[in-house]
Amino acid sequence: MRVTVTGATGTLGLASVHMLIRAGHQVRAFVRSPEHFRRRCSEERVEVVQGNILDRADVATAMEGAEAVVHCVDFPPRQFALNWDAVRHALEGVRPSGQFVMPGNVWVYGPPQTERVGPDHPKASPARLGAVLADLEKAVLAQGATIVHLPEVYGPGVWKGRLRTSFERALAGKTVWFPGDLDRPCEFLYIEDAARALIAPLGRRQARGTDYTAPGYAPITPRVFVSLIFKATGRPPRLRSLPLAWLRVMDLLRPERRALREFSYLLQCPILLDGTRIRHDLGWTPEVDYADGVRRTVRWFRKLKREVIAAAEALAPSNPTQAETGWQIRRL
Ligand SMILES: NC(=O)c1ccc[n+]([C@@H]2O[C@H](COP(=O)([O-])OP(=O)(O)OC[C@H]3O[C@@H](n4cnc5c(N)ncnc54)[C@H](OP(=O)(O)O)[C@@H]3O)[C@@H](O)[C@H]2O)c1
Repeated sequence: MRVTVTGATGTLGLASVHMLIRAGHQVRAFVRSPEHFRRRCSEERVEVVQGNILDRADVATAMEGAEAVVHCVDFPPRQFALNWDAVRHALEGVRPSGQFVMPGNVWVYGPPQTERVGPDHPKASPARLGAVLADLEKAVLAQGATIVHLPEVYGPGVWKGRLRTSFERALAGKTVWFPGDLDRPCEFLYIEDAARALIAPLGRRQARGTDYTAPGYAPITPRVFVSLIFKATGRPPRLRSLPLAWLRVMDLLRPERRALREFSYLLQCPILLDGTRIRHDLGWTPEVDYADGVRRTVRWFRKLKREVIAAAEALAPSNPTQAETGWQIRRL
């Protein structure tokens, strides 16, 4: 299929681009910065279209001839309402017969009412952003789109979030502070499995207007997950629980995270997704177990570190401190 990926420089967008190529699709990446995209994806078969999702004309160009769009643009919480315009423009662009697939997170759900949260679980988040997102999802599904709800992802190319910080700290031999009870069951999804879930609906009629939930490999606890990271680094585990009260104060002090404080219930009663529908309809199940996923991620971080240090040394060969500082560069 001819598929446009919006937000192709982002975590899920870039992973979807790679997975679509692997699956033999014709891919167009819609990005704000082609240079940024090309630094992360040198695959020449990908056509790159530059633009802003808030500009209808840009989006129309990106969607021209597309049979499907995987919509991975996301705005930070403070600009969250812009997601409405972004989705509207992308949907308009791919109509009338095109397919629209977008990732969803677990913010739409309130505290779980069942052991596993499936696509039909009430979307009754007590958080304001969760309620807005639930409204957006309702509108999108009514237009025949597909939503694939995913847990937090980890793996090579995941540049943001708590799990990335855990990997970085473990690799640096520092203590990992993980919020809440370290022995609660939770789940994470390896990035390639997440990308497979996002492209699984393509070309499937039954996926139109359908909500899916794609779970992590299995329930795990933060303690076991972080221990796997330390094991892969060859260091003894150093893990502490970050009390939720501290986390709330820290989020209060950071304007970009303030709105996320309302989601702290998700750390007290974590959500485990139910993969029955996506397995039945689309044949998707997670394939990469935690030990393997963590090993691959640690390898990727180490390779990245070597590359960054080599690049920084090439720029400042006599200044190793500066070379180490290069490791702090997030956006390569
Ligand atoms: N990451 C996860 O663990 C996870 C799990 C479940 C669900 N999800 C959901 O998946 C979606 C994508 O998440 P993500 O983590 O992949 O997001 P992300 O890494 O923050 O990527 C967001 C993308 O949106 C692009 N973008 C922002 N404003 C734009 C604009 N005006 N025009 C064009 N592009 C714009 C960004 O481009 P720039 O690079 O130019 O900024 C970036 O490529 C979100 O809805 C999220 O809730 C994520």
